[in-house]
Amino acid sequence: MPAVDPGVRGGIIRGWGIGVPDKVVTNHDLAAVLDTTDEWIVERTGINERRVGGTTAGLAVDAGRAAIEVAGVDPATIDLLILATTTPDRHVPASASRVQDQLGLRCGAFDLNAACSGFVYGLAVAHGMIGAGAQRVLLIGAETLSRIVDWDDRNTAVLFGDGAGAVVIDAVDGPGQLLAWDVDSEGSAEPLLYAEVGGFMQMNGKEVFRRAVRIMVDSAEKAFAAAGVKADDVALVVPHQANIRIIDAACARLGIPMDRAAVTLLRWGNTSAASIPIALDRAWRTGRIHEGDLVLFTSFGAGLTWGASLVRWTMSEPPA
Ligand code: ACO
Repeated sequence: MPAVDPGVRGGIIRGWGIGVPDKVVTNHDLAAVLDTTDEWIVERTGINERRVGGTTAGLAVDAGRAAIEVAGVDPATIDLLILATTTPDRHVPASASRVQDQLGLRCGAFDLNAACSGFVYGLAVAHGMIGAGAQRVLLIGAETLSRIVDWDDRNTAVLFGDGAGAVVIDAVDGPGQLLAWDVDSEGSAEPLLYAEVGGFMQMNGKEVFRRAVRIMVDSAEKAFAAAGVKADDVALVVPHQANIRIIDAACARLGIPMDRAAVTLLRWGNTSAASIPIALDRAWRTGRIHEGDLVLFTSFGAGLTWGASLVRWTMSEPPA
């Protein structure tokens, strides 16, 4: 899988932010209406609570605005918006169009649906567009999974939450942050995790779990090989936040201690394409990312889709 050609124009993440609904739904709230318990949910998933409500575009606007503020850039200078989501507000148009309007951007805007892998796919696409001339890209992962979850189904209701996370990526001369990326899919696995149009999420949790660990590890190892680094070099893993046991097992197989993993699912649940940028934002704000750190993003989701990217974290001031 591709290593990034050091001769090309690269990208640097300059800003990050999140948008989450106010409403908190705890495991105890769910146990009051479903045949489940707080103990079961915590033990099997690691999740304590999740946020529910809002629209995908509304949460994306909040996250995008926060990321633009951290980056300290003029929204008018953003020349591409990518909205990774598997829960758009409407079939037509793309939710990205509404986000573009509400943020006051003047640029191309489109939705990208790779389910929970949307952010990792989006990062690769953003860098591709930078290589093709884009100067400043706003990449947002935003979901309102609560709209496609059957709240009477304990198999899925306990897992998901709503939210959004965003990053601003600037073009730079030279290689930039991204060292290597991998995106992949296996469409024949669609029956394991899907929602019909207008329907609820259907999931074979056990099989998704089994495959998730293997494909996250394989994908990360492809990225390591492409970048010429070792798992031991990774300072921080920012994984898709589906289940603490999946993150634990994947880290163990990669030989990366869990204290190098960013884990936010306790508080937010699985927010699909939003989970990695939310975890990235929290990691930054709690002082877990430093200049020069090697950061691994790794994801899997419906499709099945999966991917990994390796970033060498650098901070620099935005160009005037
Ligand atoms: N509360 C109490 N009991 C439950 C619950 C619940 N919420 N859900 C299932 N159970 C029961 C089952 O019925 C089963 O009972 P049985 O033994 O009497 O048949 C028992 O608990 C064990 O069920 P399993 O499905 O074997 O539980 P498992 O340990 O596999 O955990 C889970 C289930 C949490 C869903 C796990 O398989 C998982 O996380 N899978 C991955 C799911 C995932 O990541 N999906 C999102 C992908 S991202 C995207 O693209 C949207």
